[in-house]
Amino acid sequence: MIKTAVLVSGKGSNLLHLFDAVQKGRLSFLEISQVVADRDCKGLMHAMEKGIPSFRIDRGAGLCKELDGILYKNIDLIVMAGFLSILDRDFCRKWAGKIINLHPSLLPKYAGKGMYGIRVHRAVLENKETQSGATVHYVIPKVDAGEIILQKTCAIDPQETPESLAKKIQSLEHELLIEALTRVSLNKKGT
Ligand code: GRF
Repeated sequence: MIKTAVLVSGKGSNLLHLFDAVQKGRLSFLEISQVVADRDCKGLMHAMEKGIPSFRIDRGAGLCKELDGILYKNIDLIVMAGFLSILDRDFCRKWAGKIINLHPSLLPKYAGKGMYGIRVHRAVLENKETQSGATVHYVIPKVDAGEIILQKTCAIDPQETPESLAKKIQSLEHELLIEALTRVSLNKKGT
């Protein structure tokens, strides 16, 4: 069993999708052991409703230390599913190879500090891109720069708005995360 901690800051739709996939046996190798949120958010509420051990940490300078203290010692994988805080160098080194992030663009495009949420989709449309997508990647100290595990792309329609693109990419992400986790689990078996 891959014991997984899911980190959330927002709506938690990816968490819900993940939970559902585990329940339905699509991710039979994975256990959502705990959920950690860095603010009061829907994702945290969903986790509590589902009976997953749930924790709330504070944003700011001590976040990574607090998170490290809260994570169960036997956690195999940390999934940042819409987690907006940046994990520092010490934390990334300690948990190297065990942290993955979901990003709403085709990395390495539209990456880095400040590139999150609707801002990504606005920038994509301003640059008149013809396609966008989402990426799951390993987390290293440099933001959004770790090895890419999997991407999914979608076409941009002529009348696309940042909001419609956000919606499109979010539904793409739900499936992407499940496929990426399947890949990660295969890698883990090989190590
Ligand atoms: C996703 O779009 C993800 O790419 C980004 O944050 C959003 C999270 O959505 N990092 P949700 O909280 O899972 O609904």
